This record gives sequence, C-alpha cells and structure tokens, in this order.
Amino acid sequence: STAEIQDYLKTATVVAKEAGEVVREAFYKEKSLQTKSNYADLVTETDQAVEKQIINSLKEKYQLTSEDNNQYEADISQFIGEESVAGGHKTEWTDDPTWIIDPIDGTTNFVHQIPHTCVCIGLSIKKQMVVGVVYAPILNEMYTGAKGQGAFCNGERISTSQQNDLKQAIIYLEGGSSREQDVLRRKFNIYHKVVETTRGTRTLGSAAMNMVNVAKGSGDAYVEYGLHIWDFAASGVILIEAGGAMIDPAGGPVDFLSRRVLCASSQSLADQLSTTIPEHIEMERD
Ligand code: IPD
Repeated sequence: STAEIQDYLKTATVVAKEAGEVVREAFYKEKSLQTKSNYADLVTETDQAVEKQIINSLKEKYQLTSEDNNQYEADISQFIGEESVAGGHKTEWTDDPTWIIDPIDGTTNFVHQIPHTCVCIGLSIKKQMVVGVVYAPILNEMYTGAKGQGAFCNGERISTSQQNDLKQAIIYLEGGSSREQDVLRRKFNIYHKVVETTRGTRTLGSAAMNMVNVAKGSGDAYVEYGLHIWDFAASGVILIEAGGAMIDPAGGPVDFLSRRVLCASSQSLADQLSTTIPEHIEMERD
C-alpha cells in the first residue's frame, strides 16, 4: 500500500542519512584499503562497516522490534549488499521484499577524496523497485524516490531534462573496474561513437551519482556495462520517478542481473542512444 511504501521510504532515508554520517566522518581520514577482483576494484573498512550498520538498522526496524511496528513485522527479510556478496553471499533476488544496498557507491572517489560518493538503499517487492534513496554526504544531497510518488532532492521535486536530440545531449560513461583487454576494447569503441554523436561525455565515478544527475536534468543519459544491481537499483527508482527512462542498452526492459543499463531523460533519447551504440557487451551475469 501507499502508506507502507511511504514508511519504507522514510526508514531508508533515515538509515541512509546515518550511514552517510559515517562516510563523511571517514572521508578526509586515512583509509584501510583492500582490492577485490583487481587493482581497480576497491573496498575499504568503511564500506564494510557501513553495510553492516545499514543491514542491522533495517533488521532492527522490520524484524526485531515487532511491538512498536507490528504491522510490518518480518515483512522484510532479504538483503542484497555489495560487500556481503563480495564476502561470499551469492546474489539471490527473489519475489520477497528485498533491500538492495551499496554502502558506498563511488568507492574509488571516496578513497581519493572526490566528493561524488553516496550511500544507496533500494527496496524491491516482487522484483519491482519501489523505493530508492541515494545520499551523497559530502555534497549534502539526499535523493529519494518511491513508486508513483515522484523524485526529490533534499525535499524538492526533480525532473529530467526531457532532451530528445542526441546531438544536444550530455552522456555519462564510466571506464568501470574491469581491466580485461577485450572488455576495454569494446568499451572504448562505444566511447568513441558516443563522443562522435553527442555534445559531450562526463564521468562522475559513481553509477548512482550519474543516474541522479540525469534524474535532475544535469546531463541527459548514462550507459554502463559491468556494474551490479546495487549500483543502479535505488537510483533507478529516482530516475523513473523524475520522468526518465531506464532500458537494457540493447533495447527492451532493463535486466537488473545482466550487469548493464542505459538511462536517459526520455524514452526517445534512450532509444536513440541504444541504436547508436555499435555493439552491446555481454557481461557475466550476477
Ligand atoms: C562502481 C561505481 C563506478 C562504476 C562501477 C561500479 P562501487 O561502484 O559505480 O562508477 O563504473 O561499475 O562498480 O564499487 O564504487 O560501489
């Protein structure tokens, strides 16, 4: 129901804000760093601590404190978190209500003190994204969206540019964290074509920050191959609620486990960008 969704959104906002304080506190300090799949795929102690904190807070609210919250008791039992998956949990996405968490999107920015870094919390019900919160604590921007209820930044309604002309569009792209020659070669073919056919490209270093910027009309589209569900689930709700379109880069509905996404200010721009891309990279699924 609408009331339930509003309650989930409120909770996710409070939890993201608390998590963001921890990120902000750690931002200018020395970080304890490890690499994951390769030297460009990073995790810090803060990522791990913040993910635990988020999961514990959500569990406390929806599973353990049944007295003060009996109507939603045990409603939410599933979690997909970037660092839990890195720690060996497989991504299992079911119809059950599921919180999808990226404790720090833009970890590399966080490590290098570049302010585009954010906490992402999304909620899916029956595999439909219903709530999305993206909080960028250094920029002090809190983005929220809930299905059918609009998208907001710091409480102000946001909407996409509605740009329809690729030649006048700004496109966000990411180098990503893969260092495989074949993936890089294909990505840079795409990059070449996008630069050639548009007004310009930008890279913020965080999938979610790219998407919320498209959502608020700062830039017009974003495409990436190689990301994961936690990088774009929460920001996807915000983008759609802001009037944007989110598709599979090859066209058709987005597939959250396919590790690729194309977002744009409008459906028409999304379709144009999709057909401009010379080849669509198949990634190993989550
Ligand atoms: C990464 C960032 C980056 C994108 C990568 C993601 P992380 O997420 O969103 O912009 O290019 O594909 O993995 O690791 O910082 O949460």
